[in-house]
Amino acid sequence: MTQGNLIEVREVSKTFGSYLAVDMLSMHVRRGEIVALLGQTGAGKTTVLNLIMGTTAPSSGKITVAGVDPYASFKKLKGLLSVSFQTDRLLPWRTAVENVELGLLILGKPKAQARASAKEWLARVRLVGVDDKYVHELSGGMRQRVSLARALAINPQLIFLDESFSQLDHVTSRALRSDFLQIAKEFDKTCLLITHRIDDALEMADRALVLSPPAKIALEVSIDDKAREDPNRMATLHAQIAAAMGEEPATEH
Ligand SMILES: Nc1ncnc2c1ncn2[C@@H]1O[C@H](COP(=O)(O)OP(=O)(O)OP(=O)(O)O)[C@@H](O)[C@H]1O
Ligand SMILES: [Mg+2]
Repeated sequence: MTQGNLIEVREVSKTFGSYLAVDMLSMHVRRGEIVALLGQTGAGKTTVLNLIMGTTAPSSGKITVAGVDPYASFKKLKGLLSVSFQTDRLLPWRTAVENVELGLLILGKPKAQARASAKEWLARVRLVGVDDKYVHELSGGMRQRVSLARALAINPQLIFLDESFSQLDHVTSRALRSDFLQIAKEFDKTCLLITHRIDDALEMADRALVLSPPAKIALEVSIDDKAREDPNRMATLHAQIAAAMGEEPATEH
């Protein structure tokens, strides 16, 4: 593995029966980097995430995550990576704090320590006073915050977000993105962010990769704070990404 790369994907292909979902993909994510994977529906984003998480094996090529093959050494990555999904996937019969502490309990942390940590993380994602509420008593945005707190609570090196902000309205989504970004930077997390929303990527990522089916990199762009402060630069990047995603500029919202 190249020094500094937490994720390395080399010439990976994946077929489902006769369908080629990923065709010779090479990409990497450096330690501490936030990389966005963009692409329209069916581009292969989730498939790439599953390959990197080790929940599915590549048909050919090589993947290394934190120095190991994520599929062959799936258990070695336990506790090292977390994922938060588009739907919050919280357990309805557990309260907010009980959902957040779950990962810690699974990793064998003592109950009191897990509880204290879970409460800390709920506060860090700005959820106060909801610890003992059940999932159905929380708004969609709050649930997504609980889901992020759960992902962060195990103190993973790597965090995967699969459309975590996509189902929220724009205002809620923006607030959550900004809070997550601040936490990711403060705690030096490496993140792979999967999204079909260009704004999510432009706001959060150090680098954005646009996939077009079968998971080919159609465009790669770097985004830094200087670019983020320049509306013209951002408009250009937005247009470039939209074009690579095969979108008409007018259809973007
Ligand atoms: N287990 C599977 N069996 C067969 N085909 C699959 C399987 N998983 C994914 N595919 C196919 O691979 C392609 C890529 O799917 P994938 O879910 O990775 O896309 P995506 O970019 O995540 O899309 P979305 O934005 O809708 O989530 C699709 O054509 C899909 O039908
Ligand atoms: Mg997907």
